[in-house]
Amino acid sequence: MGEETPKENGPVTTAAVTNGDDHDRQGEAEADGGAASRLARRKSIRDQITGIGDLVLLDPLTEEALLTNLRRRYSNDEIYTYIGLVVISINPYKSLKAYSSDVVQEYRSRSVYETKPHIYAIADSAYRWLRDKHQNQCIIISGESGSGKTEASKIVMRYVASVCGKEKEVDRVMQMLLQSNPLLEAFGNAKTTRNDNSSRFGKYMEIEFNFKGEPLGGEITNYLLEKSRLVAQAEGERNFHIFYQLLASAAVSQLQGLRLKRELDAYHYLRGAGGVREESDINDKANFKDVELAMVAVGLKKPEMRAIFRLIAAVLILGNISFSSVERADEDEACELNGRQAVQDLGFLLEGDEAILEKALTEKTVDTLKEQVTVALSVEKAMFARDALAKALYGRMFNWLVHRVNNSIKVTAAGKRKSIGVLDIYGFEIFKLNSFEQFIINYCNEKLQQIFIELTLHSEQEEYEREGVKWEHIDYFNNVVVCDLIEKPNTGVLSILDDECLRPGEVSDMTFLHKMDQRCLKHEHYSSRASKQLHSDKTLPRNAFRIKHYAGNVAYCVDGFIDKNKDSLHRDLSRAMYSCDHLLLKLFFIEGDPENKSLKRAPTAGYQFKASVSELMKNLTSKNPNYIRCIKPNDLKKPNKFDDDLVLHQVRYLGLMENVRVRRAGYAFRQAYNLTLERFKMLAPKTWPMWKGPPRQGVVEIMKHLKITNKEYACGRSKIFIRNPKTVFDLEDQRRESLNRIATLIQTVYRGYVCRTRFLALRWATNIFASNWKCLLQQRQFLALRWAAVMFQSYYRGLVERRKYNAIIYGRKCEWAATIIHKYYLGWKVRKENRKKLRSVAGPILTRCARKWLRRRFLFNLRANLPSSSPTHQEWPPCSPLFRDASKLLKDLHHTWRCSLYRQNMEDNPRRKAIFLEKLVASKTFSGRKACYVASVGKPFVGDELRLANDSRWMTIAAATNDPLVVWSGTVMKIHRASGTCVPKVLAITSKAFLVLDPKTMKSTYRVSLLNLLAVSCSTLKDNIVVFHIKPGSEGDAAKKGDFLFQAPRVIELVTKVKRVAQDIQRAAFTVNISNQTEFRVKEQQVQLNFKPSPQRLDAPLCKRNGAKMEVLV
Ligand SMILES: Nc1ncnc2c1ncn2[C@@H]1O[C@H](COP(=O)(O)OP(=O)(O)OP(=O)(O)O)[C@@H](O)[C@H]1O
Ligand SMILES: [Mg+2]
Repeated sequence: MGEETPKENGPVTTAAVTNGDDHDRQGEAEADGGAASRLARRKSIRDQITGIGDLVLLDPLTEEALLTNLRRRYSNDEIYTYIGLVVISINPYKSLKAYSSDVVQEYRSRSVYETKPHIYAIADSAYRWLRDKHQNQCIIISGESGSGKTEASKIVMRYVASVCGKEKEVDRVMQMLLQSNPLLEAFGNAKTTRNDNSSRFGKYMEIEFNFKGEPLGGEITNYLLEKSRLVAQAEGERNFHIFYQLLASAAVSQLQGLRLKRELDAYHYLRGAGGVREESDINDKANFKDVELAMVAVGLKKPEMRAIFRLIAAVLILGNISFSSVERADEDEACELNGRQAVQDLGFLLEGDEAILEKALTEKTVDTLKEQVTVALSVEKAMFARDALAKALYGRMFNWLVHRVNNSIKVTAAGKRKSIGVLDIYGFEIFKLNSFEQFIINYCNEKLQQIFIELTLHSEQEEYEREGVKWEHIDYFNNVVVCDLIEKPNTGVLSILDDECLRPGEVSDMTFLHKMDQRCLKHEHYSSRASKQLHSDKTLPRNAFRIKHYAGNVAYCVDGFIDKNKDSLHRDLSRAMYSCDHLLLKLFFIEGDPENKSLKRAPTAGYQFKASVSELMKNLTSKNPNYIRCIKPNDLKKPNKFDDDLVLHQVRYLGLMENVRVRRAGYAFRQAYNLTLERFKMLAPKTWPMWKGPPRQGVVEIMKHLKITNKEYACGRSKIFIRNPKTVFDLEDQRRESLNRIATLIQTVYRGYVCRTRFLALRWATNIFASNWKCLLQQRQFLALRWAAVMFQSYYRGLVERRKYNAIIYGRKCEWAATIIHKYYLGWKVRKENRKKLRSVAGPILTRCARKWLRRRFLFNLRANLPSSSPTHQEWPPCSPLFRDASKLLKDLHHTWRCSLYRQNMEDNPRRKAIFLEKLVASKTFSGRKACYVASVGKPFVGDELRLANDSRWMTIAAATNDPLVVWSGTVMKIHRASGTCVPKVLAITSKAFLVLDPKTMKSTYRVSLLNLLAVSCSTLKDNIVVFHIKPGSEGDAAKKGDFLFQAPRVIELVTKVKRVAQDIQRAAFTVNISNQTEFRVKEQQVQLNFKPSPQRLDAPLCKRNGAKMEVLV
């Protein structure tokens, strides 16, 4: 199809959807838009697109038409074109506006065919497929060097970063992944003739997501760094960027610290084949700033950064070490260093011993059968060892950096995870001189092409066969033969190379070539000068072999193949590195540890690469693939230049034509019958809502109903195949419309149901409410009525009964009145008849009777109301004045009687009598004389309160003093006669004496015979102070000291008891003085004792002695 391709050629993209799954992905993305708006959107996109956005719709399908379409689109800055879901990207070599945040929003959650072709559409589809369908995804970016793979991978990553969650941790992970790019590019990218920022290592970046589609972390796997670039670069190429960045940006002091100079040509490793060329578009200074920021971002610490810069400097300085041969008696060839400065600087930078380094660089230890011998190295071998050391240092440092980046983005959260892998691996390379690295790189690209063929072309054709669907077979080149030529065990090039490396005896690159010629010469994709037809072909050097790759013929020069494959460093150098104190070297050169005696050879570089590529392929095939195929428009790295030949070459080897053909020859859509039926069953009345027959018939029924012709679809064994995407879109459109209809119906029914349910609920509630309310009203009415009826009844009955009652009363009154009247009348009549006799005869009799009756009534009343039998009781029933005298007489008689009864009682109970006698004595002594007497009357006397009679200590005292009977005991306060202070004592009154005892020990302090007791004094107040006056001149110490003053409990009882026993023993009246002024004797001195009421309330009487006076405040 030429430039004038009609726009009516169907939908813009996805016309060739490879399989049903892809279609599902689109179908789901549609879910949010209406059919009309979607169609409108599709049209408007079609209007905006230049040429054909999806090559599947190209007509006619020729290489020329395809190229023209790509060119036309490219000239209009439309660098992305689809083949189904494969994106073809042509490097624009200029900044486009196609990556702004507005564009991101345009592609966000939109179906692939709803928008213009873009990487974003693929990235979005992969992301949503992962988030919503939980299927791991990989995005394989392929194309030759400089075609824009690395840029494409960054665009994908940036898109994913902007559409997935914006939480802090999510952002951190994505930023870390994005920021790792400048760091790894500085160390792993270099300027080549094809690309100013060519990736010299392969990178597979895997981002892991949680179930919500938020990135949790990731992992970067790196593949074979092109280390040979470190020691030599082709003309017009550069070493890795980091060297130039460091020399251009580091401050003078930093350079001095690293023993470096700013001039690039001071370094052998930077001079390259064509010497240093300063002019370059690369901004090393700005890039170095990004690298420093990235180092911080991935968590490198200051000492680690310093260690890295030292290693970079060490590599540069190592390159400057040169050798010259020397004659030695015992050696055939030997060498020595040219100058010491370089090795000194190296020793400084690596913090190692200069002598050890020098020895390791110029000599080598060789194991013989018996011993280890040291052999001097020739100049050539020493240079080789130096370069090997530089490569090992740099390569291990690069691996360590990747490891550190991985540490910072490692997923720590547990739980199920899904991942998107982005593969940006070095592109296919054909240089003038192709070596081991190009061989490895191109092998990797062969494998990627293989996986592409497997997953798109081959599997597609296989499916048609499996399903028994007729289709037009498309021939394409299956590069599995080339892959076999390289990797097949025993016969493959890598296997032969490994054999040669491990073989004992004389081994060289040429013996390797010879071996290959022997084994592979017959292979149609292998050739060398040993082939008959190329025997005299001068374009192929003798030390080279040629492989016919899917992307073209490449001649590989075998020089260095063996050494590069061995990738070994001799033991002395490893040990020298291990002996250095540099922060990272012990980690990098573990094999140099003298303790490490392992003689196991390290696997060869080819073997390692093959293993990691096979691992990668396994990983990629386990995921759902998405392809971005990058094309380089020109070799000049210039924008707006479209080199037809160059692009056509890439179109051919990428197999894009075959890709389009396979898609066009086949069917755009396929899906299992049951899934198709499930999806489109609403489009035919027979299948909606349920189809009971086999799904295949159901699907055919739908097709028939929609009048889709037989040509338009084919029935496979388990799937339906639809030829034209337009048909699928029409089906989808109709489905959408039907869904709208069905949704409206469901909505209607549901709303009806909801309304009816609400109505029924309301009605039910209203009924319940109304019935309850009515019930309540009726209840109230009934209760009111009942109450009224009862009231009425009761009033009425009351009325009737009252009437009856009144009638009865009235009757009785009448009867009574009649009786009275009758009585009076009879009386009047009798009196009238007997008036003469009444005064003389009946009067006295009546008076007598009346008096008799009154007397009887008085006596009966008195008998009924007699007072209690207590002699103290004063009450007497009142009486008429008629009987006042008799009543008084009877009262006295009654009192005499009850007193005699009381006395009689007393005689019957001697104990009581004794108590009463004591109380009588107390009464006589104190009644009306001491204030506290009244309170003591009601309280019975206690006597021996302390129960001394039962106390063994008292018994001892009593036995000694012959005082058996204790009449009173209690704890008293003995008032000090001299000072008035108080001391607690036990006072015991016996029938013979009173004793003052120590309350603790119960030992007698004083014993005074009651015969010597003169009198007892106490005040009229409420106090409890008692004075025992001792007869002057009495016998005994105690008596001589004077009178005793006690503050005693139960003072009334004490004095009464003392009075009684004293009277008994002295047989004379005993004096008890009750006065507020008395005297007491202290030895011979008389002290006046005055009792006074205290103005304040006191808990206990207060005694104060003042000369011959003592005052007691009560
Ligand atoms: N989408 C793009 N927009 C603008 N410039 C681009 C784009 N893609 C690539 N380029 C330009 O092309 C150059 C080379 O691209 P890139 O480094 O991605 O190639 P590559 O395929 O990775 O090559 P290699 O295989 O050598 O690593 C970039 O440095 C950039 O200048
Ligand atoms: Mg790259």
